[in-house]
Amino acid sequence: MIKDNNRIHSTHLRWSNALSVGSDEIDADHRKLIGLLNEMSRAKTYAQVVRLFDTISRHLDEHFAKEESCQATLNYAGYEWHRGEHRQMARRIKAIGRVHLARLARQHPERGAAMVRDLMADCIVSHVLTADRGLEEIFRRKQAS
Ligand SMILES: [Fe+2]
Ligand SMILES: [Fe+2]
Repeated sequence: MIKDNNRIHSTHLRWSNALSVGSDEIDADHRKLIGLLNEMSRAKTYAQVVRLFDTISRHLDEHFAKEESCQATLNYAGYEWHRGEHRQMARRIKAIGRVHLARLARQHPERGAAMVRDLMADCIVSHVLTADRGLEEIFRRKQAS
């Protein structure tokens, strides 16, 4: 989050190959999430913040289900662990909404959007860079077979 002249805006998130997990379908979901998080940085009203929070949460739920189904199909050894990480992230995102949407975003939409966006981005990007990057091996094996 960057502050200048009392304006608050989050740093623009960019897709990079460092985020790729070796599956076009999963990468496309992650790119979409990054795009929605960037949209959240530009939210100006409380209604926009809430709409984007709901859209990102829904997209995440669908994405988790898709990723877990790939892992099960490809017999990923870390399936249960990864599934647990998803559940934990879903709870964390819900808590971010509960704490910041009701108060901060309602009173100061732009400040709230930046806060919610940065907290969500932190959860999502760090999961992609660690847990999801660990899936590269199963997608590589799938391509080779
Ligand atoms: Fe994941
Ligand atoms: Fe993912």
